[in-house]
Amino acid sequence: MTGDLVLAIDQGTSSTKCLLVDAEGVVVATGSAPVPIRYPRPGWVEQDAGEILDSVLVAAAQCLADVPREWVRAVGFSTQRESALVWDKRTGEPAGPVLGWQDQRAQPICDALREKGQASRVREISGLPLDPMFSAAKLRWLLDRAPDAVVGTIDSWLLYALTGSHQIESGNASRTQLLDVRAGAWSPELLDLFGIPSTALPSLTPSAGELGRIGERGGELAGLPITAVLGDSHAALYAHGDRAAAGAPRGPASGGALGGPEEGGALGGPVHGGVKVTYGTGSSVMRLGAVANDGVCMTVAWNDELAAEGNIRSSGSTVAWLADLLGSTPEQIGRLAASASSDGVCLVPGFGGLAAPWWDDTAVGLISGLTLGTKPAQLARAAVESIAHQVADVVDVMGPADALLADGGATGNDVLMQIQADLTGVPVLRARTANLSALGAAFLAGGFTPPISYDEFRPQPGDSAAQRSAWRAAVARARTPQHGS
Ligand code: G3P
Repeated sequence: MTGDLVLAIDQGTSSTKCLLVDAEGVVVATGSAPVPIRYPRPGWVEQDAGEILDSVLVAAAQCLADVPREWVRAVGFSTQRESALVWDKRTGEPAGPVLGWQDQRAQPICDALREKGQASRVREISGLPLDPMFSAAKLRWLLDRAPDAVVGTIDSWLLYALTGSHQIESGNASRTQLLDVRAGAWSPELLDLFGIPSTALPSLTPSAGELGRIGERGGELAGLPITAVLGDSHAALYAHGDRAAAGAPRGPASGGALGGPEEGGALGGPVHGGVKVTYGTGSSVMRLGAVANDGVCMTVAWNDELAAEGNIRSSGSTVAWLADLLGSTPEQIGRLAASASSDGVCLVPGFGGLAAPWWDDTAVGLISGLTLGTKPAQLARAAVESIAHQVADVVDVMGPADALLADGGATGNDVLMQIQADLTGVPVLRARTANLSALGAAFLAGGFTPPISYDEFRPQPGDSAAQRSAWRAAVARARTPQHGS
């Protein structure tokens, strides 16, 4: 272990994870702390700002327990995005709950704007479809109950709590639906539409640089400089090594053996021209560069770099839902899925609508193709396939990809990775390292550029075309207005 370490803090929806990383990208210590999440009413998802800050301090203290403090030279953050909160700027006390990114209580605010014909204008300026997932409508809801408070996202709350400065990082700001994404500045028109006073806003800050020094409230972190902040999905993209390198060769970098995981093959080095997929509760499909179509969002990756992103609401949560329904566990569902084909069963997880590339809040959850021969194994397989189909739908509208760069919890499922390669027709490169979001924050904070190693899953010949058309037919049914609604 050397003295040139960066502390990366990944503040996610269900937990905060910390990694201590050296300049070779080696993780030398870890820490984690859970974050409570509450569902007070259907569609409402709340967290507590104080508990989020506490989780950061607990996880960081665990990580630093056996390391001389002077060996740590900087702190980098990756954070859950879109979740919104308000606080009293004089006291620093939260003035309401954190409304989680999955919270849909602000739907009526979006509906009212849509009825006024503003949806396309909101999309044009912000790069995002008008949707209560983004922070703007949530902030309106919160300010209606605390009109004098200031507003922020999780990154801005942590920056404020730890440094005393009311800032927001550019990538996180682009997910508020208040930023003019091309100009990289708050949009007076969007502020007006959502009724957010400019005086309540944090100031915009780049993703890297001297973003502030941690004060007394940071406990053991006091005195350390924060040198990078990224949205978690953006941080994973950064860790994969995509840097919008002009003229960089498209496709996997040479220098590693191309072999399936069963052969122990791995790819090393930055991979350009790929599309990143983070598999979590939902999934995030992202690539650098602006993509101009309605299926995906235009967003700031970091600093002033644009990216396209398709958000899928239900991935791991689909498997968790089925596991619950069958009195099973997600791990057992994964094993069941490996044991059978879906035999024509499609499961469209439109729980609360479908996001990218459809952005259809009226879509419903649907299982099609059931027969008397359908067993739990077919449902399990269909649930896993639904994750890959949804990613393939987003990749279809993003344009050709050389490879999918995969990270996140579900990538441990080899069956999912192979289905993904088959359905998209391009290799899936699975990161061999966990916690890519935290690593990306560490790399940006430390100025490191270590390579990531991958396992490769190549597309296999089969009936993917038929599976894709059955899926598309099922999605069309899930999106058909329901009788009586
Ligand atoms: O867009 C929401 C995303 O940033 C949350 O990520 O990993 O905390 O569920 P995660």
